[in-house]
Amino acid sequence: MESLQNKKERAVFATKFAAVATTVGSAVGLGNIWRFPYEAGIHGGGAFLICYMAFVFLIGVPVLCSEFIMGRQTRSNIFGAYRKLHPRRPWYLAGYIGILASLLILSFYSVVAGWTIEYFTSSFLGNLDFSDTATGHGQFMEMTTGWRPVIWTIIFLLCNFLILAGGVTKGIERVCNVLMPLLFVILIAFCINSFTMPKFQEGLSFLFRPDFSKITPSVLLGALGQAFFSLSLGLGCMMTYASYFSNNTRLGRTAVTTAMLDSLVAILAGVIIFPAVFSFGISPEAGPTLVFEVLPYIFNQLPGGAMWSSLFFLLLFLASLTSTVSMSEISITYFCEEKKMSRRKALTVSSLIALCGGLLCALSFGPLSTVKLGGMTFFDLFDYCSSNICLPAGGMICSVFTGWYIKRSIIQKQMTDHGKYRFRMIGLLVFCLRYVCPTAIFLIFLNSIGIL
Ligand code: PFF
Repeated sequence: MESLQNKKERAVFATKFAAVATTVGSAVGLGNIWRFPYEAGIHGGGAFLICYMAFVFLIGVPVLCSEFIMGRQTRSNIFGAYRKLHPRRPWYLAGYIGILASLLILSFYSVVAGWTIEYFTSSFLGNLDFSDTATGHGQFMEMTTGWRPVIWTIIFLLCNFLILAGGVTKGIERVCNVLMPLLFVILIAFCINSFTMPKFQEGLSFLFRPDFSKITPSVLLGALGQAFFSLSLGLGCMMTYASYFSNNTRLGRTAVTTAMLDSLVAILAGVIIFPAVFSFGISPEAGPTLVFEVLPYIFNQLPGGAMWSSLFFLLLFLASLTSTVSMSEISITYFCEEKKMSRRKALTVSSLIALCGGLLCALSFGPLSTVKLGGMTFFDLFDYCSSNICLPAGGMICSVFTGWYIKRSIIQKQMTDHGKYRFRMIGLLVFCLRYVCPTAIFLIFLNSIGIL
């Protein structure tokens, strides 16, 4: 489908479906399928899930709406959006948090996405052997601990580069429109397969039966970080995407649809992973490697396992691409619009920065595993700083800004598509943005550093 161009030559998504598919494409990725199960695993399962869901809907959806409002109203990158809406105060400095977060995330995300390519190629060539736990673990360590992940990380970043070089609407729209529904179908099929696992019930009660005594400050911060990470919030990603929305994309509906689909995918991933974790006797607290150690056992048990495995890792790789494409867009639009670089140059600069960060993270499981800052490897540090600090901080600023400084008439205009639809919850939205979201985020921060 032809994409429309507006007068300023800024690209606009061609259809409403494309806008939703692309937004969901950014939100759904490794965050749901890789990060959610491992975070839930280390933070007590059900207790984590309940906090995560509460944060997605109480904080995530209002902040998502505020990013959408700012993005579409100004049709700019994160810096330009703050500047256009409040030229006299340096709110735009929040943009630096977004750029930093996007580059940190891109660095470690590319490493995990690199693992998906490695798993895809190995299963495709029939080399993935997870017939018993010892062989499986050995194989996983061999893949992730040496220099090999460096190569896959570079390959992944190259793919990201090529998609972005194809332009916003063409590259992203095409991939998302086909991919997202297919990934969803595959996940449902694997969920049904989970029912056949011997420890199916144990897995499900780990995920769905919350033990409230397990809700600690670190669980709250982890769940908040996961909610922001998974919804691609707090760094201007959704703001940048909304700047490409056409004028009849319904913002409220798009925000709620995105949050629902995104959480659904995370829950499906949990339903796939945890019964298998318990059935194969793996610890749910294995951390970032959890999903990559568990999934191959599931595939091994299925008839045509190599085929399923290849298909799944291929889709996961593509889902990661739609997410990295969106996070790269943040720094690219910044370099283009603020630093007046050509798009090609902006893309090259941000890819090179991500490459340096990616190398540090790729080596964190092997040669650099002993290099630790604050007790964390580069990989863990990048993840912690971006997800648990930058994103909630960026989200808090965006929420305060929209709640207090953007005129209600602008919020009204954006949420009703220039009066075309009714939106009855303006009061509630503004109340959440002014009071609920910033206070909740602030309290969780204080709580996690031990002040509360
Ligand atoms: N939301 C993506 C995921 O869950 O995999 C990750 C992500 C994409 C984070 C884009 C941040 C971002 F700007």
